[in-house]
Amino acid sequence: MAHKNKAVWGTRFSNTTSKLFEKIGSSIDVDKRLYEEDIHGSIVHAQMLVKQKIINKKIGKKIIKGLKKIRVEIKSKKFIFNRKYEDIHLNIEKRLFDIIGNDAGFLHIARSRNDQVITDFKLWVKKASEEIIKNLNILIKSFLKKSEMTVETIMPGFTHLKNAQPISFAHYLLAYVEMFKRDKNRFNSNIKYIDECPLGVGALTGTSYKIDRNFTSKKLGFKKPTSNSIDTVSDRDFALDFLSSASICAMHISRFAEELIIWNSDIFKLIKLNDKVLTGSSIMPQKKNPDPAELIRGRAGKNFGSLQAMLTTMKGLPLSYYKDMQEDKALVFNSFDTLLESIHITNELIINLKPNKERMLSLANEGYTTATDFADYLVQNNNLSFREAYKISAKLVNYAEKNKKNLNQLNFKELKKMNKNLNKNVMKVFNVKNSVNLKTSYGGTAIKNIKKMISRLKKEFK
Ligand code: ARG
Repeated sequence: MAHKNKAVWGTRFSNTTSKLFEKIGSSIDVDKRLYEEDIHGSIVHAQMLVKQKIINKKIGKKIIKGLKKIRVEIKSKKFIFNRKYEDIHLNIEKRLFDIIGNDAGFLHIARSRNDQVITDFKLWVKKASEEIIKNLNILIKSFLKKSEMTVETIMPGFTHLKNAQPISFAHYLLAYVEMFKRDKNRFNSNIKYIDECPLGVGALTGTSYKIDRNFTSKKLGFKKPTSNSIDTVSDRDFALDFLSSASICAMHISRFAEELIIWNSDIFKLIKLNDKVLTGSSIMPQKKNPDPAELIRGRAGKNFGSLQAMLTTMKGLPLSYYKDMQEDKALVFNSFDTLLESIHITNELIINLKPNKERMLSLANEGYTTATDFADYLVQNNNLSFREAYKISAKLVNYAEKNKKNLNQLNFKELKKMNKNLNKNVMKVFNVKNSVNLKTSYGGTAIKNIKKMISRLKKEFK
């Protein structure tokens, strides 16, 4: 009997696999995570074989009962995974033989591990994408909550890490909400691409049995069966899509982490983080370091690395199945675990973050952040072109710099020196809150814009 402690291909082989190859060839330590999907796929496959009268009902029932028993065994951690049987598919098949005897051999009619593994993997990636989406929703809600509390918190907006123009802290947080929304969209559209069922294409050619691929596709929750058997077993685009979306999301998270690290520094002091998300130093008693933020910034590298590794594995790989592709699972699982954890940590960070309002406001007044507003004022009130107004404002900045003053510390007399036609109401231009509130164009930082945006987003993320 081929199944007795031998590989399924034992009949053809006169020697067993070398221990060394068994070690690298076996993927069970990694792909056991697919057990749920594998059993589900096998049950549906068996149902289809019965429906199509390819196997009889009695055998079908026996197979399905055995598979369900295996599911319970794995769930309750009683199942013994064995590297000798390579992967999750063969481990389960082997156990089915143990439980129901030789009738287990009917299950592999009209399928191959090649279509089986992609079916399982696609189902898993779909589930994983949904999990990421769910957690991004939670993260977005935390950002919205913090935004609501900080609409009126004014800070300097930066370009080139130089003070640029005043913004609302909430507006800055909502920028990340936009990024996470795009991340969600990416994972959602990946799910649409995944939606074709591989089961039934066999090793690469399709099969001579009268199978019903529409039945299995529907039962497994796919929209339709895949259209080309060769492409089906060769395709790992769905894994790449996942890795790419995960990388982009991790990149967003790492940008946020980086800003928190800078802002939490003793030089910036723009935010305060709760001790919950800080760690101490073994030598410097005064230290409180933002390690969690640093970790998620660094871990983006793991997500990018997985994407790069997968692309490199696929590049130049001829059709159809090659063992190279077995490495795909570890990459995707790692990327998923890393990203999920990073999302959780980001959520902790945003909850435990407090803007240092006074410091934000005082920094917003430094660096001549209202110089652009002054130029705009001259265009709107004194009939100047923007380039002329720009020059006058630049002169004002030079004057303020020379006299060691912020723009809001200048008096009307000093301003008049720049342009004698100025009206007294020009003074309000140098108020940073006023500056924020002038940016009423759609998508701008004016407080009333932000309030509208938050209530719209709150409806979207109830
Ligand atoms: N464990 C294998 C994988 O993940 C399953 C496919 C094996 N197919 C084969 N022709 N050896 O890729």
